[in-house]
Order: sequence, then C-alpha cells, then structure tokens
Amino acid sequence: MSSDEMLAKKDDFFGHNVVRDPYPKLAERAAQCPVHPGTFSTFFDMVGAEDILFPDAEQISVLSFDGVEAGFKDQEHFSSCWYEASLGKMIGRTIIEMDPPEHGRHRQLIQGALTKREMHRWEEEFVRAIVDTTIDTFIESGTADLVDDFALHYPLKVIAAACGLPQEDVSSFYRWAAILTNVSISAEEREEASAEFGEYLAAAVTDRRANPRSDLVTHLVQAEFRDGAGRQALNDDEVIAFLRLLLPAAAQTTYRTLCNLLFGLLSHPEQLEALREDHSLIEQAIEEGLRWQPPLMSFGRTTVADAEIEGVAVPAGTLVNLVVGIANRDPQRWENPDVFDIYREPQGHLAFGSGAHVCLGIHFARMELRVAMEQVLTRLADLRFADGIEPVHITGLGQRSPAHLPVMFTPSNRIGTAS
Ligand code: HEM
Repeated sequence: MSSDEMLAKKDDFFGHNVVRDPYPKLAERAAQCPVHPGTFSTFFDMVGAEDILFPDAEQISVLSFDGVEAGFKDQEHFSSCWYEASLGKMIGRTIIEMDPPEHGRHRQLIQGALTKREMHRWEEEFVRAIVDTTIDTFIESGTADLVDDFALHYPLKVIAAACGLPQEDVSSFYRWAAILTNVSISAEEREEASAEFGEYLAAAVTDRRANPRSDLVTHLVQAEFRDGAGRQALNDDEVIAFLRLLLPAAAQTTYRTLCNLLFGLLSHPEQLEALREDHSLIEQAIEEGLRWQPPLMSFGRTTVADAEIEGVAVPAGTLVNLVVGIANRDPQRWENPDVFDIYREPQGHLAFGSGAHVCLGIHFARMELRVAMEQVLTRLADLRFADGIEPVHITGLGQRSPAHLPVMFTPSNRIGTAS
C-alpha cells in the first residue's frame, strides 16, 4: 500500500470525511456533565481507536479542563499502561506507557536530547534550511497546497536530519509511521512494518555505537546517569523502541498542528496580516492554534485503583478518555472558547498534555512550528486561499486537520538553500 493510500485509509477510519466539527456536540455534553460513560467516538455513533482496542472494557470520557488535567497529573490512580495495548504491542516498551518510578528514570535519560539549547542548534543547522528548500519547490508558481507541498513531510524530514538518517528515506518513515499507528490495519501487517522499521533503526544504532556523531541517535546510545540503583543507560532495544515512538509522535502531531494554525490564519486574514507585520506574535499564535484545534482529540489512561474525577467515582480497571479537544474550550477558563483569537491572554492549554508525561517534544514542536511560520510569513507575500476553491475545513474526530490547503501568493524567487 502506498503512503497516500495509507493516509486515506487512516483518515477515513478516524472520521476525517465524516465528522467536520465535533465541538458543538462535545460542548453540549460537557455542559450536562464533565464525565460521561463511553468513548467520545460513541457520542457520534462512530467506532474509534479506543473502541477497537478495548471492545469489552468500561470506558468513560472526561470533558472539562480540570478533569482532564487531573487525569494527566494523578499517576497514582490514572496509569499510562493504557498505551501497552495500543502502541506498546507494536513498537516495544517506551516511556509513554511507563508509570513511576520507571518513567522518571527513563525520561531523565532521554530528555537531554531535546532541550531548548539543542533545539536552537537544530534550528540553525538544518531546520530553517529544510523549510526553505521545501518552500523553494513551489514559490515560483504562486500557488501551492500547504498540506501536501509543505506541511505533511516537514516533521519527518526534520527528524531524519536530527537522527542523521538519509532524507531519501523519509517516505519509508511516513509509511511505517502511518501503519504503526493505524489500529484498523491487521496486526500482522503492523508487526511486519514494525520489524522492518526496527531492522532499519538497528543498523543506525549499531553504527552510532561504533562511530558517534552529533545526532539524536548518538545522544540516545550514550545517555547515562547514576542513581541508587547504579548506572542507568538505554540498551539497543530501548533506543530502537524510542525511535519507533518518535516518528509517529513527531510526525502526525506537528504537521496537523501546522495545518490547523495555517487554516486559522487563512480564515482570519486580519490576524494573518498582523502576524506578518509583527513576528513576535507568532509564539502566542501557535499556542492559540493548539488550544483551538489540537491535532489529537483525546489521550488514554487506565485506572489502577478506585478513583474519583470531577466528583464522579471511577472504579479500578476503567479506561479513561481524556478529551483534550473539548477541555481546551472549557468556558470556565476561556471566554468565547470556539473563537480563534491570537490576541488572547496566554493561559495553559492541554494539547501537549500535563504532568509527568507532558510532551517530551514540546520545545522541538514549538521550534518547528515557529520556524515554519516565520518562513511562510516572510516568503509568501499576499498569502490567501486560492480563488474559486471549494470551502476548506478542519475535519476528523480522533486526529484533526484540513485534508488540503490550496493557497495563492505573489510568486517569488527560490533561495536555493541546500538541506
Ligand atoms: C504539536 C505537536 C505535538 C503535540 C500536540 C504533542 C502532544 C503530546 C501529548 C498530549 C503527550 C502526552 C501523552 C500522554 O500523556 O498520554 C505527548 C507525549 C510525548 N510526545 Fe508529543 N506532541 C507533539 C510533538 C512531539 C514531537 C515533535 C515529539 C518528538 C520528540 C514528541 C514526542 C513525545 C514523546 C516522546 C512523548 C511521551 C512523553 C512521556 O511519556 O513522558 N511529541 N505529546
């Protein structure tokens, strides 16, 4: 199956073509009660990934900001072992499915690879160049689809560069990432892709142990610290599993976030113009885009002891959907929450999660989004939706973004940066 066929299958499965705007219904439910039985997909009479993964389990959906934040933060009752059945089975045991104290130790080993300082180096060394060479491919024509021509493969190109892997392999990463995270594809197919991807990564890990470089793979194989339990380091399987997590974690989220922000700005030309004139607004615009239309609607937890959330008793063994999308529009926290407004007073949102598992790629994602926006605003003059197109929308239930963003702008010259 080609990458495009994979994407189409995945997006259909997640309601890309079925659910355009889930927010009115979710808001109605949230106003009735912050906690509801069933997965959020069932509110729309749909079968979501959570229903396929756990068909027989008791499931609840949490819809308020306070409830979702509490679910993320309370590791004693709300366990990340939820991911064992979804991701873990396919990619191996990684940080995302661990609880304390294992999680803390593992995170300490990995987080040094993704610091703000390291992101600054990546930005200078290759990220801006990747954005510019991508823009070069369409800037002379005056038209583009900012999904297919710009955003879709951008995060994977950056991850490949960060890992010191060849840019020619990006379409294989895309295929592997799409198969691994699509629970509607057969287990055999996914296992096959996981093994193929694992073999590919094992070669890079072996090479970096023998020939260290200044890349992410080298950082992971060399990371270590000592604590009461002795020397802590990652073995090859752990490095490979983490790299297998990184690709889908980084790819799907960042490209969809970028597309959603571009959509918000193209639909609000006065805000787009304000941003073009004042790039210091870009960072708050990124956060508003993430609040307004996070790329992933919900994250899972499993209660490992009897718990309570928003005053509702939740027995041990319940699967909990923390529905970030609607929590980010909680009217108790945001005025006119459905409105995209880059001038809002900054207030923490939950698109990156919260607590101990808060997105490890947070500085990475923010840097990638900022650099992409800076170059788009600087290089694509008079950017607007293309004339005569069918109206474009952000769609999807579990994963949300526009399928296409056809735009026009004043044609300009390539700048010919090599990546
Ligand atoms: C805008 C883009 C992104 C969004 C919205 C996002 C969102 C999230 C969220 C909500 C979580 C927490 C999941 C949970 O608690 O169940 C998470 C965890 C994680 N993210 Fe991201 N992410 C983004 C980009 C990235 C990137 C670029 C990377 C690559 C380094 C990355 C790597 C990770 C990892 C490794 C974790 C697991 C952290 C842990 O378990 O301690 N993410 N992300």
